[in-house]
Amino acid sequence: MDLHLGFLASHRGSNVKSILDLISTKELDAYPEVIISNNADSAVLDIAIERGIPNYCLNKKNCMDVDEAIAYILKKHDVNLVILAGYMKKIGEKTLNVYPNRILNIHPSLLPKYGGEGMYGRNIHQSVINSNDLESGATIHIVNKEYDKGKIIAQYKIPRYILDTPETLEERVLKIEHILYPQTLIDIQKGIISLDL
Ligand code: GRF
Repeated sequence: MDLHLGFLASHRGSNVKSILDLISTKELDAYPEVIISNNADSAVLDIAIERGIPNYCLNKKNCMDVDEAIAYILKKHDVNLVILAGYMKKIGEKTLNVYPNRILNIHPSLLPKYGGEGMYGRNIHQSVINSNDLESGATIHIVNKEYDKGKIIAQYKIPRYILDTPETLEERVLKIEHILYPQTLIDIQKGIISLDL
């Protein structure tokens, strides 16, 4: 599958950067077509500018219908696979209808554990610690109408250490996210992972 990627992110953008880095070294055969954020101050927009990738800030302040604007921009840039990476807004029905089974998200837990509304950032890692789980990790899943509920296509587990704090666990999970997301895209590109349900 030829990968024409459209990215959505809200803050730091380290997962987007890890994917772009692998495209730059040609380890991942894909085209970064566009980067969208809802947050004008997101570092991901600086990453886009540095690398000359078309970029947009789309939110309620500048769009009547953010969902429609996202779907329009993704189509305009010939995106065929949408990559959510720390995008803090729900994807609307219009975008879901234009990209059925073609929107992916990364979540910093072993879904279905610690997913759903309110499960983001440190909350997730604190919950893993509170539950005394012996492992944690990251999950890539297909996005549907419900938060973190779509088909799981890849997971990477790491041990949870007794001395872990939410901060140390978050840091170690983020490191493996930077391996898991690009590797999953390589597997999709090579046909090893199928996105058809
Ligand atoms: C990551 O932990 C991702 O799993 C979650 O939000 C965080 C985004 O980090 N959905 P970054 O913006 O990619 O650095």
